Amino acid sequence: MIVSDSGSNTPPRRAIRSFVLREGRLTSAQERAFNDLWPHFGVSWSPTAAALDFTSLFGNSQPVVLEIGFGNGESLAEMAERDPARNWLGIEVHRPGVGHLLLEIERRGLTNLRVMRQDAIEVLRDGIAPNTLDAVQLFFPDPWPKTRHHKRRILSPELVALLARVIRSGGIFHAATDWPHYAEQMLTVLDGASAWFENTAGVGRYAPRPAHRPLTKFEQRGERLGHPVADLIYRRR
Ligand SMILES: C[S@@+](CC[C@H](N)C(=O)[O-])C[C@H]1O[C@@H](n2cnc3c(N)ncnc32)[C@H](O)[C@@H]1O
Repeated sequence: MIVSDSGSNTPPRRAIRSFVLREGRLTSAQERAFNDLWPHFGVSWSPTAAALDFTSLFGNSQPVVLEIGFGNGESLAEMAERDPARNWLGIEVHRPGVGHLLLEIERRGLTNLRVMRQDAIEVLRDGIAPNTLDAVQLFFPDPWPKTRHHKRRILSPELVALLARVIRSGGIFHAATDWPHYAEQMLTVLDGASAWFENTAGVGRYAPRPAHRPLTKFEQRGERLGHPVADLIYRRR
């Protein structure tokens, strides 16, 4: 998205994004996935299009769980396989990760998982009708450890306002991180949104790691480095 201040001479300002697009090479299997599997499991959408219609997208009206930034998608595919009574929608910008998840969908024979290659912020803002999501999950978002990059962290008051609009009353927002400074920021921002979200662990507390969250690829990397993991689980009022 280009944000321009019309009428002034300043050049258009790029919105601050939570990612840097590294194209990365696709394997030949991932190339095939884009050709053969994307038409079945991929969701093409643009910010000028109407909001997604989940019933026609999944062919049923089961509750929908959205994952932001699924990486290679293996933990998302595992969750979707274990919980077929809900529909799962993954959003990721990294093309090889999207290709990897398409292959996982095929390998596991999943029918309840769809994939978008999009900036999740744009989808949350314009692509999802109010009160339609059962849950949103954000696992090990890019930590942007340098102070001057903290503004790129995806978990912010702006994200929380977008989540409050799309998560149904009683629905869940679940975040996890292995960066203590980011965990503290998440706790402050989410506890600060108590008009919308209730901390299931109690104000100021992290949640116990739930058994239903598989180990993710980035979490494994963090574990090898000895990073502690914090889960934050909030219920929409
Ligand atoms: C550190 S990785 C974690 C991946 C995965 N959740 C895991 O735990 O293994 C963060 C991922 O979020 C993706 N990402 C960052 N900002 C995003 C955005 N605005 N929309 C979609 N994906 C995003 C990145 O491309 C990256 O793959």
